[in-house]
Amino acid sequence: MSKNKIDRYAVFGNPIAHSKSPQIHTHFAEQTDQQMIYTAELAEVENFENRVREFVANNGKGLNITVPFKQQAWELATQRSPRADRAGAVNTIIVKQDGSYYGENTDGTGLVRDLTENHQISLKDKRILILGAGGAVRGVLEPILNKHPAEVLIANRTLSKALQLAVDFADLGKISGCGFDELEGESFDIVINGTSASLHGDLPPLPNGLFNDNASAYDMMYAAHPTVFMEWAEQHGATKVLDGLGMLVEQAAEAFTLWRGGLPETKPVIDAIRASLK
Ligand code: ATR
Repeated sequence: MSKNKIDRYAVFGNPIAHSKSPQIHTHFAEQTDQQMIYTAELAEVENFENRVREFVANNGKGLNITVPFKQQAWELATQRSPRADRAGAVNTIIVKQDGSYYGENTDGTGLVRDLTENHQISLKDKRILILGAGGAVRGVLEPILNKHPAEVLIANRTLSKALQLAVDFADLGKISGCGFDELEGESFDIVINGTSASLHGDLPPLPNGLFNDNASAYDMMYAAHPTVFMEWAEQHGATKVLDGLGMLVEQAAEAFTLWRGGLPETKPVIDAIRASLK
């Protein structure tokens, strides 16, 4: 392999055309004065593995993986971090010197950093409600529980999935599962929407009175405009209402650090991407 070639990185997904990752990583590379190329790559379920191998053969040093390939990436990685292992999903691949793939999941750290560092919302001793029990939620539970909240409750349309997640992460802290119909009378300091309902302009059926004083609402999705969940939270007593753009940039920053070292500054990048959405 030629040492003179520029290191290549990419995000693989489907769809991928509107991915912000190339913009984000280009900002990080400029900030840290590094030469690298970062592209968005469209793949299909059938050719994902071949496309990854082809990319790596062409000087690919690292990958980000998004919907719907995070599980396939988990399988492709020959070694995984404990948190990626438990998440059952890999969003970052580091190509090691010997050509093997190391799988990591930076989504949860991205969410936690956005909450705690960008928005000064501590998770310690807080009562946290998480809506949804799919892959996105599984991917963030370990870093959340590691911050020692008083309790995490997972509410999901399909009750069995919420209960299963609670069992799978029970050794990390106080965590339980329920259906949306069991939320009546409960209140929380932080409510995180990890369902894909926002994508379709839907809102899970939520009761009034869900927010404690000074509570925060966080949608893991982001868009140019507030999501339906964010609008609902604003109208139902949440003090801080946030979307997932910061999480996206923070998970990217952690991937960048794993690949290239150094700590990119995220605030100006979040601001730049936010401005580009408008
Ligand atoms: P992802 O990778 O985005 O997590 P997923 O694994 O398919 O995707 O999970 C989607 C999550 O959003 C699930 O928790 C799903 O609820 P079910 O487990 O009952 O399917 C939830 N979800 C999707 N659309 C929803 C809606 N309209 N209302 C409530 N929950 C919804």
